[in-house]
Amino acid sequence: MKDSINVGIFGLGNVGMGVVRLLEKNRADIEKRVGKPVRIVKAVVANPKKDRGADLSGMMVDTDPGHILDDPKIDIVLELIGGLTLAEDIILKALEKGKSVITANKALLAEKGRIIFPAAYDAAGCFGFESSVGTAVPIIRTLRESFAGDDILSISGIINGTSNYILTRMTHDRLSFDEALKAAQGMGLAEADPTLDIRGIDAAHKLIILMNIAFNGVFDLSELYTEGIFGITAADINYTRQLGYTIKHMGKAKKTDQGIEARVHPVLVKKDHLLSSVNGAFNAISVLGEFMGPSILYGLGAGPGPSAVGVAGDLIEACRYILTGQQRPISPFSIPLENWLPVKTVPMAEIRTEYYLRFPVLDRLGVLAFISKVLSENRISVRSVIQEGKPGREESPVDIVIMTHEAVEADVQKALKEINGQPFIAGPTQLIRIEPD
Ligand SMILES: NC(=O)c1ccc[n+]([C@@H]2O[C@H](COP(=O)([O-])OP(=O)(O)OC[C@H]3O[C@@H](n4cnc5c(N)ncnc54)[C@H](OP(=O)(O)O)[C@@H]3O)[C@@H](O)[C@H]2O)c1
Repeated sequence: MKDSINVGIFGLGNVGMGVVRLLEKNRADIEKRVGKPVRIVKAVVANPKKDRGADLSGMMVDTDPGHILDDPKIDIVLELIGGLTLAEDIILKALEKGKSVITANKALLAEKGRIIFPAAYDAAGCFGFESSVGTAVPIIRTLRESFAGDDILSISGIINGTSNYILTRMTHDRLSFDEALKAAQGMGLAEADPTLDIRGIDAAHKLIILMNIAFNGVFDLSELYTEGIFGITAADINYTRQLGYTIKHMGKAKKTDQGIEARVHPVLVKKDHLLSSVNGAFNAISVLGEFMGPSILYGLGAGPGPSAVGVAGDLIEACRYILTGQQRPISPFSIPLENWLPVKTVPMAEIRTEYYLRFPVLDRLGVLAFISKVLSENRISVRSVIQEGKPGREESPVDIVIMTHEAVEADVQKALKEINGQPFIAGPTQLIRIEPD
C-alpha cells in the first residue's frame, strides 16, 4: 500500500487556497479518515511569486502544467483554475495518465460535457466534480448515489448565490439593482464583471450538470432557455410584494411527455413558498422523485470554505479508492456510459405557465382596454390588474401590471410583440414567470 497520497493542484485562487487551508487545518483528522497522509506536493499557478497569505513551503509552485502532469508520483490532480481551454487540456491529460481528477469548473463541464464525461468514464482514476454545483450542498453525490433508485421527475432551485443575494437586498433593504450589485461586489460575492451571474449563465451551467445526472445523458447548453436578474427593477419588487410574491432566480428542469422542460430565469414565488425564505447567498435545490416525493438541500453555494469542503469530499473518496486498490466507482453519472439516453428538451415556446407583465405606458384613455384585447386574442386570460394612473396627469408614464392565468409562452411573446409596437408604450415591458405553488 502507498505511504501517502500526493496531490497536485492547479490554481491557488479562492477555491485553491480554500482547499490548501482546509487540508492544513484538518490534516490530522483527514489522515485518520483516509488512513494515510494526504499532501499537496505541487501547485501550478499563473503568478508563482504572488503572496497568498499562507505558508506554501511544503509545495513546489510552478507555471508549467507538465510539472504536475508528467510527475508519476502525483496520484490526484485538482483543476481549480477555471476557464475552458487550459482546464480541458489539464483534465484530459491527467485522466489519460491514470490520475484521479477533481474539478469545480462548472463552465467547462456544461460546455464540454460530451468530451470530458466520456473521458472520465474511460479513465482508470476517479473523477469528482461536487463543487461545480452548490459546493458544500452535496447535490451531485445525492443525485448520483442516494437517489439513484428513483425516477427523478424534476429538479429545481436557487443555484446562483450572487443573484439571490442581490434580489434579497432589493427586497429586504429596498436597494436598487445597481446598489445591490455593488454591495455583492463589496462582499466578494460578485466578480468585477458580473455577467455570468446576472445574465443567468452561471445558473445555466449548474442546471445542465444536474440535468445530465438526473436524466442520464448530456444536455446541450445552447438549448437551455437562460435569462438573468439583469432588468429586475425596484418597481417589480414593490408590485410583486403587493401581490403576495417574492422574486427569485431559479433553474428548473422537469420531465414531461414531450421531453425535458428546462429553463433558467427569474420567477415569482408565493411569500409562503419555502424558496421565498432562502435569502442572501444561500442555495436551495429541490428534487422530486416518483417514489420519494420532494426533497430539498440547502446551504452556501460558493466561497472558499464551502467550495473547499466539496473538493475535499471528492478528494477523500479518491484517496480511499486508491489506497484500497479498488476499482473506481461508476462515476461520473449513476449509469454506465453505454446506457446514456438520448436527451430531448421541450422548446421554450411550448411551455405553459402564469405570467406577471408590467407595461410602462403613457396614461391615455383606452390603453388598458387595448392591452386586454390583444391578450385575449392570443388566448391569455387576465387574473388581476394594477393600474396606477392619477387623474389630471394624462400622458405621464404609469405602470399597468397584469397577472395572467396559465398561458402558452409563444402566445405571450406574440401578444407582447404587438403591444410593444404601440405608441403608448413608454419603456421596456417586464415579463416574469410565476412558479406554481
Ligand atoms: N469561487 C467560488 O466560490 C467557486 C465556487 C464553485 C466553483 N468555482 C470554480 O472554481 C474554479 C476556480 O475559481 P476561483 O474563484 O478559485 O478562481 P480564482 O480565484 O480566479 O483563481 C484562479 C487560479 O488559477 C490560476 N490560473 C489562472 N490562469 C492560469 C494559467 N493560465 N496557468 C496557471 N494557473 C492559472 C490563478 O493563478 P494566480 O493566482 O497566480 O493568478 C489562480 O490561482 C472555477 O472553475 C470556478 O468556476 C468557484
